[in-house]
Amino acid sequence: MNKPSSSTPKVAYMRMFVAIAILAATTLLLFFGAGDGFYLWAKAIHVIAIIAWMAGMLYLPRLFVYHADAEKGSVQSETFKVMERRLLHGIINPAMIVAWAFGLWLAWKGFGFMGGWLHAKIAAVLVLSGVHGYLSGAVRRFANDENIKPARHWRIVNEVPTVLMIAIVILVIVKPF
Ligand code: HEM
Repeated sequence: MNKPSSSTPKVAYMRMFVAIAILAATTLLLFFGAGDGFYLWAKAIHVIAIIAWMAGMLYLPRLFVYHADAEKGSVQSETFKVMERRLLHGIINPAMIVAWAFGLWLAWKGFGFMGGWLHAKIAAVLVLSGVHGYLSGAVRRFANDENIKPARHWRIVNEVPTVLMIAIVILVIVKPF
């Protein structure tokens, strides 16, 4: 059986290092170059990271739905493993770190960590991060062929990030309290 191709960990680490270096250099340039405008640049980077994080959080359980029904050891199952691992390590994890880093900076700089909406938002994002942890554990279990949850379970889990995202976006944009 042909194993699906996957890049070596060395190449993956190299890519990650280059991405971190580019983000750090851009942030420093903007921080010293944009003056007071840096807040809006930081918000833009925050929203870009959120889009990547949420795209992954919505797609990963959808992959699990199909992976749960794939026969263990089959080409499909091995392909899903590569897709899941790359999605988690290449997109979801780094996007979450960037979203948290810039989100916390915005919360401190713009609001001094004050405001009911902000506290509720951070609480909802903590729950979202817990779901992230759960999905990352599931990637490990699927990789070891140890998943015992049916496709229906993953269909339900798929809805949780959606509901949290709707609540978080309303909290930060409407700021109802
Ligand atoms: C990781 C923890 C997070 C913290 C501490 C945080 C905090 C913040 C803060 C303080 C702002 C600036 C609000 C303003 O200037 O009015 C902001 C903007 C924003 N955040 Fe977050 N955030 C986090 C995660 C998220 C998540 C998970 C989402 C979506 C699912 C999200 C969506 C947004 C959006 C859409 C904006 C732009 C709002 C606007 O310009 O009106 N954030 N965030």
